[in-house]
Amino acid sequence: MSVTKTLYDTMPDGREVFLYTMENNNGVSAGVLTRGATLNSLVCPDKNGEMGDIIVGFDDLSGHLNTTTYAGEIIGQYANRLADGRFTVGKTEYNVTKNENSVTCLHGGGEYNSALWKAIITDDNAVEFAYRSPDGAEGFPGNVDITVKYVLTDRNELEIHYAAVSDRDTILNFTNHAYFNLGTTKNGDVLGHMLQINADCYTPTDERSIPTGELRPVEGTAFDFREWKSIGRDIGQEDLQLRQCRGYDHNFCLNGEKGKLRLAAAAKDEQSGRRLEVYTDLPGIQLYTGNFLDGTEIGKGGIALQKHFGFCLETQFYPDTPNHPDFPQCTFKAGERFESLTIFKV
Ligand code: BGC
Repeated sequence: MSVTKTLYDTMPDGREVFLYTMENNNGVSAGVLTRGATLNSLVCPDKNGEMGDIIVGFDDLSGHLNTTTYAGEIIGQYANRLADGRFTVGKTEYNVTKNENSVTCLHGGGEYNSALWKAIITDDNAVEFAYRSPDGAEGFPGNVDITVKYVLTDRNELEIHYAAVSDRDTILNFTNHAYFNLGTTKNGDVLGHMLQINADCYTPTDERSIPTGELRPVEGTAFDFREWKSIGRDIGQEDLQLRQCRGYDHNFCLNGEKGKLRLAAAAKDEQSGRRLEVYTDLPGIQLYTGNFLDGTEIGKGGIALQKHFGFCLETQFYPDTPNHPDFPQCTFKAGERFESLTIFKV
């Protein structure tokens, strides 16, 4: 096993961006950038042993700097959406950046994912990224010290360990926004990929993509992924939820106990023979099927990123949790430690 550090590029302001590449004894490798602690690549074999990169992303820093996709980035302080960019902690109401149509806060306003993180190699298969978010950044309370440690094991698991602590009571919800394409983008969209999600319910949303509060059973709907089915099978169904979001862009309420690591979702691409399993201890996962990719961004290998060229499985607390007292909560006291683990196994 090995970890190598290389200079990736420099930011327009001259700061250096580094790439850390972990490789295991099977030849599987994962590359992570210090900008956004971004998962830049995950290279693994297909059924013929041919290596391919299953992370949808970019060949250079300008691709990462100019994208609006959040591809591979670590999202904080609140992944997903907050209605009206507003929430209350204790007796204090906070108003945070409304970076989505001036109506909602999406992905914390874009702070964590565009920051340069410090990195240290902690083992021959592990790199820990650290960032301090200053109190009040994008309107969120607390100086938040976060570490995200990526570990690549010989079982072909990419572990993502999150740990954070704030010096004020606050809300914390982090995720990795990787888009996967198990056939690689050379082979087009992911509608033929098979998917399975261990969720009996999901959170339907309004026209702003904010949960209505209902936990709707997936039974008998296009959202039933409890048994394997292709991503594309029901995506075109006449369903208001799918129409509003142009495809899947929804939080699934994961079965099993929150706080316990469990299999949340799995995907397989029969053509390439590659598989992905996603494990998490968090209560939810956002399935996003790249509905807003429209070919204007050019990804790896010069390939335009078209609609549905990747899918995301973003492990998380439910969207807009602080405004839904019935959802599993993500408010943390000053000094209280947030810890969470997500695993992408190939
Ligand atoms: C959101 C999408 C959004 C995408 C990229 C996802 O997490 O749910 O609505 O378009 O991120 O910005």
